[in-house]
Amino acid sequence: MTETMQFRAIVVQKTTDAAGTSAQTATLQLVDDDFLGSAAVTIELLYSSINFKDGLALGGRPGVVRAWPLIAGIDLVGTVLHSSDPRWMPGDLVLQNGAKLGESLHGGLAERARVDGEALVRLPSTLSAKRAAAIGTAGFTAMLSVLALERHGVTPESGPVLVTGATGGVGSLAIVLLAARGYRVHALTGRLGEFGDYLRGLGAVDVIDRAELREPGKPLQSERWAAVVDSVGSVTLANAIAHTKYGGIVTACGMAQGIDLPATVMPFILRSVVLAGINSVDAPIALREQAWQRLGTDLDLDLLDRVTRVIPLAEAPDAAARILSGTLHGRTVVDVRA
Ligand SMILES: NC(=O)c1ccc[n+]([C@@H]2O[C@H](COP(=O)([O-])OP(=O)(O)OC[C@H]3O[C@@H](n4cnc5c(N)ncnc54)[C@H](OP(=O)(O)O)[C@@H]3O)[C@@H](O)[C@H]2O)c1
Repeated sequence: MTETMQFRAIVVQKTTDAAGTSAQTATLQLVDDDFLGSAAVTIELLYSSINFKDGLALGGRPGVVRAWPLIAGIDLVGTVLHSSDPRWMPGDLVLQNGAKLGESLHGGLAERARVDGEALVRLPSTLSAKRAAAIGTAGFTAMLSVLALERHGVTPESGPVLVTGATGGVGSLAIVLLAARGYRVHALTGRLGEFGDYLRGLGAVDVIDRAELREPGKPLQSERWAAVVDSVGSVTLANAIAHTKYGGIVTACGMAQGIDLPATVMPFILRSVVLAGINSVDAPIALREQAWQRLGTDLDLDLLDRVTRVIPLAEAPDAAARILSGTLHGRTVVDVRA
């Protein structure tokens, strides 16, 4: 951090040319402290991470960033510097996932942040700042999905659980979390040859080629899975629903394949399958705290380290391009001080 109260940040700008065509760019810049506005809690940031949504924002895709110019990054982990919110004191180690960070509020891909404190969570004592960033929104969302399965009454005895988008951030951490609780995890991946051993190493007992669920299928198919944690949407999600056992649950959090859902109501009315939406951005604080408490106790930290790589702030745009092109796997932590 420079003494002039300037700090480095990845800033997303929107430009419109003479023909009225808009474009969005993301660049590493020096910005003034005033840029952050006047919210209650100022945080010296340590780490952020690269999620699919960060890929979209930094890659110039519409739909994520809704205010310009904006510091990108939907995750932050850091140390409180100043706070007028009595819940937070200088020196507190805190994290935040979503809650409009990197969308309409300045986010975590910077050396400094200022937030209102409502969605901040204290770092669990079992987790370092780097590991909390490695979990990030992806791991938080994986945990929200596991909690939804548990609320539905799914146990390891119910049958195998399918995780789609398995090599991704949500997928990798969902496998680790489910396997640790004794679930038999089937991992669906488009990169079976390259990452089959990686997925078994995370705890998957079976690794399935994405192609098996890629083509449109019948409304009802063989009952294979007691539950599904889906992060890809589209035809894959429709087929996963059609393969879910009587009384099972499918959580839907993502759209890596597409936003459509070409399904029928048959699995719902003939098998009592439940489709549960997962939204990490607007999760209430009690649910955030519950999820992070569980992340602090359930995650195998060696496995978390195995799926994590760390990059400096300047490399965030490159990593964002790679998450969009599907060539990243696991979790990418951004060391904002490097
Ligand atoms: N609702 C929420 O609050 C929330 C929170 C976090 C993330 N999400 C969403 O969840 C999704 C995953 O996020 P992430 O951070 O885990 O992203 P990620 O690391 O890029 O993982 C996505 C994975 O999906 C698979 N995939 C990619 N393209 C695909 C395609 N065309 N068809 C089928 N599978 C494909 C790939 O896994 P394989 O190569 O193994 O097949 C990829 O690794 C994104 O859509 C993201 O926006 C939502």
